[in-house]
Amino acid sequence: MPKKFNDALHSVALSEDGSYTAYSKEYGEHYHSTKDGALHESLLKHVIPALELKKGLVEINILDICFGLGFNTLATLYYAREQKIQSKINIYSPELDAQLIKSLLNFTYPSEFDALTPIINSLVEEGVYRDDFISIELFIGDARIYLKELMREDIKFDVIYQDAFSPSANPILWTKEYFKDIASLIKEDGIVTTYSIAFKTRLALYENAFHLYINSGDNFRDATLASKTKLVDFEVVDMVHKIKCNKDIVALSDATI
Ligand SMILES: C[S@@+](CC[C@H](N)C(=O)[O-])C[C@H]1O[C@@H](n2cnc3c(N)ncnc32)[C@H](O)[C@@H]1O
Repeated sequence: MPKKFNDALHSVALSEDGSYTAYSKEYGEHYHSTKDGALHESLLKHVIPALELKKGLVEINILDICFGLGFNTLATLYYAREQKIQSKINIYSPELDAQLIKSLLNFTYPSEFDALTPIINSLVEEGVYRDDFISIELFIGDARIYLKELMREDIKFDVIYQDAFSPSANPILWTKEYFKDIASLIKEDGIVTTYSIAFKTRLALYENAFHLYINSGDNFRDATLASKTKLVDFEVVDMVHKIKCNKDIVALSDATI
């Protein structure tokens, strides 16, 4: 039985890999694909492709947009421990919903996260967690404002998990202006991971000088990887061809959403 997590804006939902996720009554969407499974989706669409590309680095800077239930942050720590990845991991993560963060003490996480309970408690109570190998900073507020702050601080990221609600439910985190800020925050060889395969999402990334790739596998629906440097082990999305075939489709923009 899951813990009592439901409130006026959220209800708990069992996903197909046996891990629980939440449903947002405000956005009308689940926090994860219930078909792919919450933990499974986080690992396969975000954490594994990113850490497998970056695991040789001394430090890995990760921007986790948005924190939500924290699966991407927690699955990063879980996978890094499992794979004995030696890099120091620095995670920065915005989240608009302060009430949600408070309620995470009552969320039923998968057993894979059991060892991370002290970290979850520290994030809920203090908004930060630091030890010799991990640094996590939560920003309670609007991700668009946080991006500007990070730009002023001149922090550059190896990995950006783009895991907002869908472009139709939360378009402000999918526009070409939003991805312009993402492009200026990412290192030249950094990687963006996202579950979105929408042409409009890919176009907004492409217009900001990203190459697009398909992240596919047997047990999950296709997802997208993006990098300003060419990647060798992933199938390329032929954007020139797709643009020719979809002349009427334009990227979302701040002015028109
Ligand atoms: C799909 S959920 C994130 C799932 C998360 N990665 C996880 O593993 O649980 C989207 C999150 O974005 C947050 N959000 C929506 N608009 C936001 C904004 N402008 N700035 C920061 N967070 C936002 C929502 O409150 C929600 O928690």
